[in-house]
Amino acid sequence: MSGAAPGGAGDEARLVARLTLEQKVRLLTGADGWSLPGEPAVGLRPIVFSDGPAGVRGTRLDPRHPSSSLPCPVALAAMWDDRLVQEVALALGREARARGVDVLLGPTVNIVRTPLSGRGFECFSEDPLLTARIAVAYVRGVQAAGVGTTAKHYVCNDSETDRQSYDVRIAERVLRELYLPPFEACVAEADVALVMAAYNSVNGAAMTTNPTLLRDVLRAEWGFRGVVISDWSATRTTVPSALGGLGLVMPGPGGPWGDQLVAAVRAGAVPEAEIDDKVSRLLLLAHRVGALGQPASARTGDSGRGRGAVSAPGALVDPALLREVAARSFVLLRSRPGVLPLAANPVSTVALIGPNATDPQTQGGGSVRVLPVARPGLAAALRAALGEAVAVDLYQGCRTWTTIPVPPEGSLRDPVGGEPGVRLEIRDTGGTVIHDAPFPSSVLTWWDGLPEAVHIPGSKVVMLARYRPEVDGPHLVGAAGVGRLRVAVDGVTLAEATTLPPLDVVEAFSRPPELRMPVPLRAGQEVEVRVEYEPDVRGRGAGFVTMRLGIASQPAEDDLLEEAVTAAAGADVAVVVVGSADGTESEGYDRETLVLPGRQDELVRRVAAANHCTVVVVNSGMPVLMPWADEVAAILQVWFPGQAFGEALADCLVGIAEPGGRMPVSLPRVEADSPVLHARPAAGELTYAEGLLVGYRGYDRSGTTPLFCFGHGLGYTDWTYESLAASAGSVAAGDDLAVAVAVRNSGERPGREVVQLYLEGPGDDPGRPIRVLADFATVGAGPGERVEARLSVPGRAFASFDESRAEWAWRPGTYTLHAGRSSRDLRLSTSVVLSSMAATGAGGEPGART
Ligand code: BGC
Repeated sequence: MSGAAPGGAGDEARLVARLTLEQKVRLLTGADGWSLPGEPAVGLRPIVFSDGPAGVRGTRLDPRHPSSSLPCPVALAAMWDDRLVQEVALALGREARARGVDVLLGPTVNIVRTPLSGRGFECFSEDPLLTARIAVAYVRGVQAAGVGTTAKHYVCNDSETDRQSYDVRIAERVLRELYLPPFEACVAEADVALVMAAYNSVNGAAMTTNPTLLRDVLRAEWGFRGVVISDWSATRTTVPSALGGLGLVMPGPGGPWGDQLVAAVRAGAVPEAEIDDKVSRLLLLAHRVGALGQPASARTGDSGRGRGAVSAPGALVDPALLREVAARSFVLLRSRPGVLPLAANPVSTVALIGPNATDPQTQGGGSVRVLPVARPGLAAALRAALGEAVAVDLYQGCRTWTTIPVPPEGSLRDPVGGEPGVRLEIRDTGGTVIHDAPFPSSVLTWWDGLPEAVHIPGSKVVMLARYRPEVDGPHLVGAAGVGRLRVAVDGVTLAEATTLPPLDVVEAFSRPPELRMPVPLRAGQEVEVRVEYEPDVRGRGAGFVTMRLGIASQPAEDDLLEEAVTAAAGADVAVVVVGSADGTESEGYDRETLVLPGRQDELVRRVAAANHCTVVVVNSGMPVLMPWADEVAAILQVWFPGQAFGEALADCLVGIAEPGGRMPVSLPRVEADSPVLHARPAAGELTYAEGLLVGYRGYDRSGTTPLFCFGHGLGYTDWTYESLAASAGSVAAGDDLAVAVAVRNSGERPGREVVQLYLEGPGDDPGRPIRVLADFATVGAGPGERVEARLSVPGRAFASFDESRAEWAWRPGTYTLHAGRSSRDLRLSTSVVLSSMAATGAGGEPGART
């Protein structure tokens, strides 16, 4: 992305001066859901947004133009490797560019405060330093491709329950030390183009109208020169939001600015200079993404319905890179010697078991979702990796659905033309068919760019399909959506009802209310299914329409379990893939429990009892409880790995790749051990009572041992820590401290190690963490080789935020620096003295507000 406009800020000012007040204000609200209005008077073309951060959806889900699907952000952070994150982010930026997308709505840099957070998978970690480092790498990568990024959601949007309305009550030092640093780093180190103001309030002020955090901190202290964009439909006021530092209202058209803002300026309630500043910032953004002074035709696909589609060949992220990144993010939590990789032992039969083996979850739910490029499933990838001599058989084991699954590819067809998929009719209020065409999937969402008519009260969507069952027996048909639904099979109406909207609109996409009907079916005998749907476009969530048809056979669950256990008993290895189901983890709601859905714990235990070589693969974005951890041979945490799930898992299982991840979040033994569990606002307030003691900071302080701690991950080799040397025995306040750590690969395979530095002390304030992550570096070495990691403890690590003086205060005294493999596996330590020093008040120096 271009650093600055030609002629600097003056250039924007000159352009702003050409516009009338009405023209200026018009630019500050979206033209639609995903773009801004253009303005020919200043050579500005529309700027196009797309959701992220685990892919670029474009402005609609278009099956003809699927997107690269990356490992979810927490998986990216699990690599602890900023260089690789930057590389994959650059590739993602190029894909965005090729789709005509100017701005990616990501990364999400909120802190994982609770493992129940529905959107935790979309954040990077529970630690501000790790989050900041990965976020900076991500922003630099995407922006190097000429695409703006958006650090979101500013700030304390760390859970989903009542996310639109809660007011976070938080001490300033906690805000400064834990929740603000990732945003600050994105501004200071990566010149992030936009910051998104969150739905929630902080200490009584909505984030879209929060002058303290938007003007004083973000702009004045950190020097942010970009645009503050509202989260979607988050702005509820005209004057306070315009004065508070917000720059852009999304989506549009309409909303609280427009004519009302023009009137407020004319009435003297908002100075016109404020509008000029917003337009200047917008024009600077336009310049940075190449939207100023260029004819629209010079750009790929940035007009009409095709907008957001990849048209340039080779524009997708290289699948080999996604495969490498996914494998590097997998965390080997536990492994009995000699179990993994499988290639080390002759294997002739593998029982691949589990609801996530048959239905792998590559992404979490919500706006982050893309329509991914299809890649081989787990069984196919494992067969390809193990070769023909090895039998890989697949068993579901148990059921975990939240909504009835979409039928397997090829089992649904359009009754008119016969194409795979469904027939979609849209009828207006008078019943006239205004749209009639095949559609490739039985899931429709707002993001598909549904015809406008769907949003008119009384209009109807009719989904028609012929379904061919694969097996005889009981089936369940599920029709889901918010509004009136009627379902008929072979002309017989089975159900008709009105469903109610969930609390959050996004919940309607991830787990829409569903009508379920049992139907006996015969293998190979097609039936005609018809779902009539009248969307609720008046109530909460108007405009966000989703509809889905699911059909699945319904064998007795005891039989599924029995079959899997029998198969496991007869196999050399059982690989059990468990985890979240579609809809378990999503934007719009938090999980209620860390327990695996359905009978998965029972499945793991029974399989492990039947086969001593049971490898459990956990496919979840956030931690789940693993009460069977001691009973299984190995555990791999694979997150939501994106499109390369199958290949990356096969690479790790057979040893082509090393699972290189380390935990970016702590994993509790039981729910009650988590320092923060439920985030349920009381009377609209969400109090961050734990203060600084989030994640490992909380476990350390309470003396609780997590099942798998922050930073933990084994890989396929061993490491000896040989030396730790700080460049000096003392450090001056504000200075960084260089540190060298030598490690040796003491195992038998080449591998990578994440060398972690933790800083401890001085003093023992029970409200402060015992130690915090101070730096990390990823190094690689062959068997027997020694390698030196060069690290640096940032000056700020020795400071805390002094609320009484509203500035950073350096804490003199003796600190201990630990180097190790995780937050609980500290191998070497040394002391460092921070000399006491008076505050100087200079920017970024001791005593200064930064
Ligand atoms: C989410 C944002 C997202 C936006 C647009 C909101 O509900 O919180 O993260 O970018 O929708 O889809």
